[in-house]
Amino acid sequence: MEEILAQLSSIKQAFQQDLQKIQLLREFDDLKISFLGKKSPLQGLLAGMKELSVDNRRTVGPALQELKGFLESTIEEARQAFIERKARTAIEKEQNFDVTAYKPGAVHGRLHPYSQAVEEIEDIFISMGYEILDGPELETDFYNFTALNIPQDHPARDMYDTFWTNKKSMLMRTHTSPVQVRSMQTLELPLAAIVPGRTYRHEAVDATHDFMFMQCEGFFIDKNVTIAHMFATAQTFLKQLFKKDELDIRIRPGFFPFVEPGFEIDMRCPFCSQGCSVCKRSTWMEVFPGGMIHPNVLRAGGIDPDVYSGFAFGFGLSRLVMLKYSIDDIRHLYGGKLKFLEQF
Ligand code: PHE
Repeated sequence: MEEILAQLSSIKQAFQQDLQKIQLLREFDDLKISFLGKKSPLQGLLAGMKELSVDNRRTVGPALQELKGFLESTIEEARQAFIERKARTAIEKEQNFDVTAYKPGAVHGRLHPYSQAVEEIEDIFISMGYEILDGPELETDFYNFTALNIPQDHPARDMYDTFWTNKKSMLMRTHTSPVQVRSMQTLELPLAAIVPGRTYRHEAVDATHDFMFMQCEGFFIDKNVTIAHMFATAQTFLKQLFKKDELDIRIRPGFFPFVEPGFEIDMRCPFCSQGCSVCKRSTWMEVFPGGMIHPNVLRAGGIDPDVYSGFAFGFGLSRLVMLKYSIDDIRHLYGGKLKFLEQF
């Protein structure tokens, strides 16, 4: 009998230890099964009762019942307490969550100044009815030169220091103009589009030149398009980009084999009124080359120059971004330095 009573107290001890370890709600069921289930030591003792003498049964019986009652009620109470505790912490968590709290030192991402400027430029042209197009950076000789009225061995090829590739007639495009003929061949007229993108030239790198830079091509082809449309487009665009109600522009003749006539549009230097180092003391900045698309280029694109006309321009995007944000060295733009980028 002593032995049985000792067993009861070790069951109780084991039970209390296991109860402490509970982490999950379903573990209460497991605990109940192992201490009160059919195969539990307690049930074994209850079943063995009939082998005991009447006297012993009188002592052991109530002790067994008491332990059984204790186990049952303890499990239920602990389970209830567990559920309530969980609910409380869930509510507390929610109540303590302050959406307006300031987290010091949080790092916020942002768009690169180039991306910001491209988005802005795209918005301006979209508002004038233009669409945004794209073209390959690895180009063929045909689209980069021949189709643009620059045949093989034409001296105008010297204007572009070209990165040729191992593959015959393949090059890194030297300007975004190849997209002109590509678009004429595939899209319907009237066509009004801009093409912002990377261009490549085999040049020594300094503060104003890089071997890779961004250009933005633009063209408008329809019946009765004249150069006056281009001047108006350039002025509207520059005014909006530089946020000026009035903006002086100056028009000079310029040569590009794929336009006739060709022009350079200059705007007043945004940094000075008397001349500075950025405008090379002239107070004018060359920002917008363009002209009427040459009939040979229209023909290469499958368009009849006797019926249709169009203008095209191709400005340096990197250059405009530098002017807009007063960046004095093109290498900052692509250097990836956080100290620089964080200013935008
Ligand atoms: N593609 C020319 C360049 O890179 C710029 C240009 C485009 C000029 C379209 C006229 C018309 O130099």
